[in-house]
Formats: sequence, C-alpha cells, structure tokens
Amino acid sequence: MNQTSLRIGLAGLGRLGRRYAEYLARAVPRARLDAVCSPVADEIDWARETLGTPRLYADYAAMLADTELDAVFLITPTSLHAEQIEQALDAGKHVFCEKPLSLDVPTCLRTVEHAKRYPHLRAMVGFVRHFDASYRAAKSRIEEGGIGRPFMVYSQTADKLDPSGAFVKFAPTSGGLFLDCSVHDIDLARWLLGRPAARRVYAIGTTAMYPELKPMGDVDNGVAVCEFSDGSMAMFHASRTQAHGHDTHTDIVGTAGKLSVGRNPRLDRVEIADAHGVRSLSLPSFFERFEDAFLAQCRHFVDAVLDGQPFDLTLDDAAEATRIATALRQSQQTGQPVDLG
Ligand SMILES: NC(=O)c1ccc[n+]([C@@H]2O[C@H](COP(=O)([O-])OP(=O)(O)OC[C@H]3O[C@@H](n4cnc5c(N)ncnc54)[C@H](O)[C@@H]3O)[C@@H](O)[C@H]2O)c1
Repeated sequence: MNQTSLRIGLAGLGRLGRRYAEYLARAVPRARLDAVCSPVADEIDWARETLGTPRLYADYAAMLADTELDAVFLITPTSLHAEQIEQALDAGKHVFCEKPLSLDVPTCLRTVEHAKRYPHLRAMVGFVRHFDASYRAAKSRIEEGGIGRPFMVYSQTADKLDPSGAFVKFAPTSGGLFLDCSVHDIDLARWLLGRPAARRVYAIGTTAMYPELKPMGDVDNGVAVCEFSDGSMAMFHASRTQAHGHDTHTDIVGTAGKLSVGRNPRLDRVEIADAHGVRSLSLPSFFERFEDAFLAQCRHFVDAVLDGQPFDLTLDDAAEATRIATALRQSQQTGQPVDLG
C-alpha cells in the first residue's frame, strides 16, 4: 500500500481486545487506531478515556461503513469471527482476527472461499505462538537442519486453575477444551512439522475438577494423538486445572536432536531461596507468557499489509486447525478414533 500508516478499527474490547487496542494505539509504529467498536458502553468509554480513540461505534456495520479505515481487528467472541471477517472483506477492509476462525469446518471453508473473491484484500487469523521469539528460534533451527528430520511434536496448553470456575460459563460457546486450547498446539505442530496433512486422531478427556462440564460433553483435561500422512505424529495435552500456573510448552523431536520450548513456566529469572526451599514463581496466565508475541503479531500484520508481504499464516491453516480440533472433540465424545482422510 502506498501509505505510511494503516488506519485501523478494532472490534471487541474485552479481556484481550483491550490489550490489542493499547498496542495498536501506542506500540505499533505504523498503525493508527482510529476507531473502536463494542456494544458495551463502558468499553467504549474506556477507549475514549484511556486511549483517546477518535471514532467510537456501538455497531459493527457502522464501523465498517467508515471510509477512513483500511483494516479491522476482530477480538470478538469466536462465534462471530467468520461472519465478521466476511463482512469486513465485503466492506473493502483488510482483516486480522483472533483465533479460532470458527468452531465448525463448513463455516471455515465458506470464509476461505469468501476471501478468494477479494485477492486485493488481506485476511489473517492470529495464532500468537508463531510470533513468540522462542518458537521462532525453534522453527529456524529446524529449518537449518539442527535436529535432522522432525517427526514428533508434544505440545501442551495448560491454564492455571481459576477457583471461581469462570471458564465454565464460556464452555458452551468456546467449542470446548480442544477447540479453545489445543487449537494452538495443533497449529504449532503443523507449522513445526512442515504442514503435513492430518490422517487420524484419537482423544480422551476427564473432568478432574469441574463435573458441571460433563452435560455439555466438555472436559477440563484432555489428551490426544494425531497421525499425519507423512508418518509424523503429535501428542497434545490441554488442561484448565494446573495448580502452579499457566504451563504451555512444546517438544519437537527429530532424527538428530530435540528442541524444547517453554519447559519451565517460570514468571521471571528470579530464584527465591527461603525456608520452603529454592523456587521460582510461575506464569499466572497466557498473557504474561505471550505478551511480546501479541505485540509482534500486530506489527507483523500491519507491516505485511503496508509492504505487500505474505503473512506467516494463511486462512487455510486456520481452517485446518479447526478441522483437526473438531475431530479431537468428536473422538473424545464418542470414544472412537476419527479418520481425517
Ligand atoms: N490467542 C490467545 O491465546 C487467546 C486468548 C484469549 C482469547 N482469545 C480469543 O480472543 C477472542 C476474544 O476473547 P476475550 O477473552 O477477549 O473475550 P471477551 O468476552 O472478554 O471479549 C469479547 C468482546 O467482544 C465484544 N463484542 C461482542 N459482540 C460484539 C459485536 N457484535 N461487535 C463488536 N464487539 C462485540 C464484547 O463487548 C467484548 O468486548 C476469542 O475469540 C478468543 O478465542 C485468544
């Protein structure tokens, strides 16, 4: 694009949306946060008072009609993503959307097809771990042949136990544990293994602490295996109940070595020695772990759109992550392996 900055409207100012809004307003050099949109008046007030965002919309369609915007960021509930991406493209905007693209495969495929109508517009679904410095270093080392041929990934997303059980409220709309959490690990495994096609999955789960998830068919801890058609494999663990903190980590095993990312989920480099022994504090949530990566992801999107460079992730990758994650949920609910062709 022949302009120095990208004029952005952001929809969704919840838990994560506010962080994005702060980044786009203050920390992404070539971005201008010119508008925000939320149906919640308090959230709009926050943007006006905290960020001084000039144009404020209660209605998404009204923001899309703003001809002074080049792109939209969607940090809205997952159930809205696919339709809002399509509407943004119809309105002539580039679009960044938080993961996952959708909770069902036909909708993902519909959005992928929709985007093809607009080859001059750019659309990306964010999988933040691609922009984490340690995962990027691991990917580079693999590409340089540092571990030979990678053939196995173990990856887990494990959240700290929230005794309030607040996540249970979102369970009916989040798609369940595998779609909400393992979708990150699925996307990582495909990326680190060179994007092989999935052949078959098997998953099991348990309600270790939240039996109220059972009637919804959901679990608070799950384990899965995935076979890929080139013979490579992945194992996933997802949890809502870790006592110590947020514990996301990944191992990549190759014919000449192994890489591990994030194995020790320590908060910082401080080691505490006292009457209880020697220890570190743990990361409280995904945000502290991936704060820098969220910012890097915003910069990647803005720079790629302005400079006409490719994104690190495609909509097809996002659709494939949902396809595999929904198969994991099906397997966990039926007790049977699921063939993915
Ligand atoms: N990458 C990650 O690690 C990660 C972590 C957390 C959440 N997420 C994703 O981010 C998204 C948002 O999650 P959250 O935790 O911030 O949710 P949230 O419920 O806290 O926030 C959702 C926001 O969307 C707004 N909203 C609702 N309907 C809207 C509409 N029609 N138009 C505009 N805004 C609307 C709400 O007012 C709210 O501000 C989800 O899709 C989730 O999967 C990703």
